[in-house]
Amino acid sequence: MDLQNLFMSSKPFHICIFFFIFFTLAKHTLSLDTKFQACMPRTCGNGLNISYPFWIPHEQESFCGLPNFEVICRDRNLFFSISNVEYIIKDIFYANHSLLIANAAAYKDTCPAPLHNISIHRTQLDISSDNSDFSIFYNCTSLPDYPIFEIECASNRSHLYSFAVFHKEALEQNYSSGSCQSLVDVPVDVQSGVNFTSLLKMNHTEIMKMGFLLNWSGHDCSSCQISGGRCGFDNDKFLCFCQGGPHLKICNDGNFVGRFIIIIE
Ligand SMILES: *[C@@H]1O[C@H](CO)[C@@H](O)[C@H](O)[C@H]1NC(C)=O
Ligand SMILES: *[C@@H]1O[C@H](CO)[C@@H](O)[C@H](O)[C@H]1NC(C)=O
Ligand SMILES: *[C@@H]1O[C@H](CO)[C@@H](O)[C@H](O)[C@H]1NC(C)=O
Ligand SMILES: *[C@@H]1O[C@H](CO)[C@@H](O)[C@H](O)[C@H]1NC(C)=O
Ligand SMILES: *[C@@H]1O[C@H](CO)[C@@H](O)[C@H](O)[C@H]1NC(C)=O
Ligand SMILES: *[C@@H]1O[C@H](CO)[C@@H](O)[C@H](O)[C@H]1NC(C)=O
Ligand SMILES: *[C@@H]1O[C@H](CO)[C@@H](O)[C@H](O)[C@H]1NC(C)=O
Ligand SMILES: *[C@@H]1O[C@H](CO)[C@@H](O)[C@H](O)[C@H]1NC(C)=O
Ligand SMILES: *[C@@H]1O[C@H](CO)[C@@H](O)[C@H](O)[C@H]1NC(C)=O
Repeated sequence: MDLQNLFMSSKPFHICIFFFIFFTLAKHTLSLDTKFQACMPRTCGNGLNISYPFWIPHEQESFCGLPNFEVICRDRNLFFSISNVEYIIKDIFYANHSLLIANAAAYKDTCPAPLHNISIHRTQLDISSDNSDFSIFYNCTSLPDYPIFEIECASNRSHLYSFAVFHKEALEQNYSSGSCQSLVDVPVDVQSGVNFTSLLKMNHTEIMKMGFLLNWSGHDCSSCQISGGRCGFDNDKFLCFCQGGPHLKICNDGNFVGRFIIIIE
């Protein structure tokens, strides 16, 4: 039945239903879903967009991202904590679910010297296997015959030496790390374009500032975004918040999740 026929029909009951549906839908389209609005991507002033699975407390709601993926925006920098150690987010690659972070100590301490290996207790997050393995040896009784980055500020140089190396397995072939007080692994994402010669001219702070890659798992958000939605995580499940309300995967999939049901008898 087309519009004209509907109006020409003498049944006021049908017209009534028509207006009910029309205005309900119009109202629904005009007033954007509150969760859709709440999950608008935010930036921290440094060009990075923050959206699912990340969320900024006080600016976005927790349902806009995954639990434990909250990031702090401070002085135009984004911070992410792992086991109470603060990292600066240098980049987020939503397309391949990874992010580049660097220990904040490399930016604020004169002698950044992490004392613990990174331990990630979040099941949805891993240290990417694409990182190079960089290790810091503290307070060793001798220096090895191997390309090292000496860290003079971390030890009493008259008796002990601290240094960092790439590929500690190669070093350990000819050097006993037992002569050192401790060893801490620091993954580093050596950008393509940085060759070994230029790398060796850097100090360990500059190398730590290059940061390392983490990868996360979870729903792929891109199909939701392409359909005009914003991803979120509510009541322990992934949702696609659309202008008209939440959906399961993408907007317009017919899977409208909500309390809004029209019953027409
Ligand atoms: C961030 O989001 C805005 C609006 O959605 C977009 O115009 C901009 O290109 C995005 N920036 C980046 C770096 O993705
Ligand atoms: C994801 O893509 C970015 C940009 O293309 C790249 O630099 C990064 O290494 C990739 N991440 C992983 C884990 O491969
Ligand atoms: C860090 O990890 C390495 C290798 O997994 C281990 O040999 C070293 O003792 C660890 N360092 C600390 C401080 O736990
Ligand atoms: C280094 O260690 C030696 C022996 O323990 C001590 O005599 C010296 O004062 C120390 N130097 C510094 C700068 O701590
Ligand atoms: C290395 O030795 C210095 C003293 O020379 C000490 O202050 C520091 O805590 C030691 N570092 C580690 C990681 O053992
Ligand atoms: C270790 O020492 C052996 C013999 O001196 C030498 O052939 C080898 O290249 C050394 N390995 C490394 C990684 O320096
Ligand atoms: C290494 O990179 C530096 C700076 O990018 C460049 O000047 C140098 O020629 C490169 N060396 C080699 C061996 O490629
Ligand atoms: C590392 O190099 C940078 C730039 O050359 C310099 O500003 C910084 O003080 C150095 N850090 C250490 C610990 O030597
Ligand atoms: C991270 O990437 C590695 C290698 O691609 C993969 O095996 C691992 O499952 C990924 N971890 C997460 C949390 O997605």
